[in-house]
Amino acid sequence: MHILITGGTGLIGRQLCKVLLAEGHELTVLSRNPGSVPAKCGAKVHAMAGLDEWQPDQTFEAVINLAGEPIVDARWTAQRKQALWDSRISLTEHLVQRIAAAQHKPGVLLSGSAVGYYGNCGDAELDESAASGKDFAARLCEDWEKAARDAEIFGVRVCLLRTGLVLSRRGGLLGRMLLPFKLGLGARLGDGKQWMSWIHIDDYVAMLLSLLRDVEASGPYNMTAPQPVTNAGFTAALATALHRPAPFIIPAMFLRSCMGERACLLLEGQKVLPKQMELAGYRIIFANLADALHDLLDR
Ligand SMILES: NC(=O)c1ccc[n+]([C@@H]2O[C@H](COP(=O)([O-])OP(=O)(O)OC[C@H]3O[C@@H](n4cnc5c(N)ncnc54)[C@H](OP(=O)(O)O)[C@@H]3O)[C@@H](O)[C@H]2O)c1
Repeated sequence: MHILITGGTGLIGRQLCKVLLAEGHELTVLSRNPGSVPAKCGAKVHAMAGLDEWQPDQTFEAVINLAGEPIVDARWTAQRKQALWDSRISLTEHLVQRIAAAQHKPGVLLSGSAVGYYGNCGDAELDESAASGKDFAARLCEDWEKAARDAEIFGVRVCLLRTGLVLSRRGGLLGRMLLPFKLGLGARLGDGKQWMSWIHIDDYVAMLLSLLRDVEASGPYNMTAPQPVTNAGFTAALATALHRPAPFIIPAMFLRSCMGERACLLLEGQKVLPKQMELAGYRIIFANLADALHDLLDR
């Protein structure tokens, strides 16, 4: 298959490209920095600098849409919120316009979303039928999903990737936590009761591949392991995996004053279960956090 990937240069995208290339697929990656694509994604990967380069007579059999400004990196000023919005919703709308223009439509669009779709839900167990939340991150996900679903009008199968915290030692949440935890400075966040719905990157990529192949798959999928943990549980598991203590607590008030509104990403959470992936027959590789950390950290 010739597959177009947005966000292919990112943490998930690079791993995905590696696996798809090994399976013999032809890949084109959209990037604001097309010159970096061969080094990040593979020498044989084509780079696309803008979606307008997608000519109507060019065929992609599948599109995987992962692009988005990092959500936790900067304070959510009005300008930052707009950038988060444009890089997901406007980009997805543009993608659907190119799909509409294509003479041969892709068979499938796998499009990003996040478990933040559900908002802050305390201890409630959430499958894909749960309602969306009301905060900024939830509305961002809801509108991102709506924009992707517009591709269904053109006969495209659309799967929505409600992504949990993707664990990789190359970056993301775990990548950032490693240094302080290795230094024995690991800390619980606030009261530590907030749920963290995590997933090993190998499972995430394997789930994407199964959604790509399964012609019956469509709609939302919680892309998480079946055993979410609380922040206190995650802190303890990471400290144990690194054989270091994690004696500290970062008070919620401190995080809120440093980070503003986006502190909700760290202090609130969702207990999400991958019901639709399980119903589709996906067999998880790493169900248990200790096993996932062991695999990632001892590789
Ligand atoms: N990793 C996680 O734990 C996690 C959890 C939930 C949801 N997600 C979502 O899943 C997607 C992929 O995650 P990731 O961790 O791989 O992200 P990442 O490493 O931050 O990469 C994001 C990609 O998006 C592209 N991008 C960033 N800003 C952009 C902009 N303004 N316009 C166009 N493209 C832009 C970048 O490509 P170029 O720089 O090459 O243009 C980059 O490769 C993201 O949308 C993220 O929100 C991730």
